[in-house]
Amino acid sequence: MTAPLRQGPLAEPIMVPVALGTRAYDIVIGRGQLASLGSRIGGLRPGAKCAIVADATVAKHHLAATEAALKSAGIASSAIVVPPGEGSKSYASFETVCEAIVAARIERGDLVVTLGGGVIGDLAGFAAASVRRGLDFVQVPTTLLAQVDSSVGGKTGINSRQGKNLIGAFHQPVLVIADTALLDTLPERDFRAGYAEMAKFGLLGDAAFFTWLEANWRDIFAGGPGREHAIAVCCRGKAGIVARDERETGERALLNLGHTFGHALEAGCGFSSRLLHGEAVALGTALAFEFSARRGLISAADAARAHAHLAAVGLPTHIKDVPGGVPGVDALMDLIAQDKKVKRGRLTFILVRGIGQAFVENDVDAAQVRAFLADKLAQQ
Ligand code: NAD
Ligand code: GLY
Repeated sequence: MTAPLRQGPLAEPIMVPVALGTRAYDIVIGRGQLASLGSRIGGLRPGAKCAIVADATVAKHHLAATEAALKSAGIASSAIVVPPGEGSKSYASFETVCEAIVAARIERGDLVVTLGGGVIGDLAGFAAASVRRGLDFVQVPTTLLAQVDSSVGGKTGINSRQGKNLIGAFHQPVLVIADTALLDTLPERDFRAGYAEMAKFGLLGDAAFFTWLEANWRDIFAGGPGREHAIAVCCRGKAGIVARDERETGERALLNLGHTFGHALEAGCGFSSRLLHGEAVALGTALAFEFSARRGLISAADAARAHAHLAAVGLPTHIKDVPGGVPGVDALMDLIAQDKKVKRGRLTFILVRGIGQAFVENDVDAAQVRAFLADKLAQQ
């Protein structure tokens, strides 16, 4: 994205609290808020030093400013840089990051700072959960996806060879700083992929927000005032869900709308750049709406409306939109069977009764899913 940098004094951020009792924390949203990182950390953990974990691309753009923000508050830091991309949510990168945190003498009372998108937040958050049996960490999300979703709520982890996010821990950050100026350097494709998670919030539980997105998405993409408003709406929505159901025993599962199909497709594409995570969520959400329509839960018009919006912003909504194609129905069904929501072999899907009316459907008939996917694959 190439919105011009706006100069001037730091505007008041939007503050979104995550009410988790003794583990409560704030999400700070606003342009330029990275500059407040040092003073906020100094206020929370006086005397702490930090290990900043970033991927190489983000480090090139934003590591110096992050180090400067810490230094200005007298906070010493070291940097740990891993390759960009989903491939870094691996055992190998996890080992690299853990060993580097230990080598940097980051102790209990010090902090890990994740500077990056969902990959870095998940990877370094999991390392923070694990090193010395748990270090505090601060999320500085640098993608739209991470600012609206992955930096909030404490899900951390890496991928297994057998499926996505299968190795991990719940570990809440102590602070999230979503500096929207960091999105200025984000490639448009990654911004659009993150928008899928934003649209998901409307589609799962906030029909009015979805209607607002249909009218205002161009402003969000252009970096207008709607961007911060929309990020805050998503963060407030997610903070509420996480506060009510931190460990996903109920309501939190709704945040996985589109993810059962999406994760299988993403894994089926080898977690490659053929299908980014957010793109897989968009396609998975479109399929979840269609599957709901096939089960008679929603009208064809509602399914078409969800499809139309995702397609309007340029996200994939049909399997044929995936360059190079996807694996066959047997492979996809195998991947779906590895989903974390599978309980004693029964499939669980997040389905919809309308725009903004998602619900958890346990005990979905695998044969019905197979027949649906076979039809979709035949349409390629
Ligand atoms: P990502 O972290 O790989 O970032 C996407 C790309 O953008 C990378 O190439 C990165 O180097 C680059 N990038 C990041 N910030 C940049 C910036 N400001 N300027 C320039 N380039 C930048 O991917 P993502 O889409 O942010 O996150 C996807 C991951 O998030 C997936 O692994 C997914 O499973 C995870 N996720 C986790 C949760 C959760 O609750 N923990 C929720 C949703 C998604
Ligand atoms: N992104 C799903 C969750 O945080 O629960």
